[in-house]
Amino acid sequence: MPTPAQLLENNRRWAESVARDDADFFPTLAAQQQPGFFWIGCADSRVPANQIVGLAPGEVFVHRNVANLVVHTDLNCLSALQYAVEVLQVGHVIVCGHYGCGGVCAAWEGARFGLIDNWLRHIEDVAERHMDVLRPLEPRHAQNRLCELNVIEQVRNVARTTIVQDAWGRGQELAIHGWIYALDDGRLRDLEVTVSALGEIDQRAQAAVRALSD
Ligand code: CO
Repeated sequence: MPTPAQLLENNRRWAESVARDDADFFPTLAAQQQPGFFWIGCADSRVPANQIVGLAPGEVFVHRNVANLVVHTDLNCLSALQYAVEVLQVGHVIVCGHYGCGGVCAAWEGARFGLIDNWLRHIEDVAERHMDVLRPLEPRHAQNRLCELNVIEQVRNVARTTIVQDAWGRGQELAIHGWIYALDDGRLRDLEVTVSALGEIDQRAQAAVRALSD
């Protein structure tokens, strides 16, 4: 494992090499950011937003927490969403989960870790909502399905915020996407739950859940 001093050294080399390739890169970014995407992902160290979609600094506004949850009263996530939608005017919000998510597995198994159990209760709520889909599955399969269902439910939660509903009400073009990442091959999959208008939310979510069961 590298030391913190090595990280600072890595940074110096990286900044020098970026500036060598494009002298305007940092001055341009320092003046403003104009990302087209807002990413809501898991805090898991193996799912770095920019890297897995090939985006440079300045191209994606990122919020990450344990198990990529969008909780109705989480001012941290909602503030980032509001800034992304109203100030940065992103056109796309991407909720990205991943298979093998420790938070999802802990919630499914009812494991106890302390304070975080209260956060993970939101995933247990998702599981309870979809128990008819999950109950017949083998444990590992059920955990992966719950990772997918959790993304679909968080897309619904984003779409139901006042922030997104007001944006659609103003006629702002904004699409909410649900993707899932596989740690074992580095591939993203679109769960095809994309919502871009108020009336679509439940229908798109139900169709995406049905598609999982096929
Ligand atoms: Co995770």
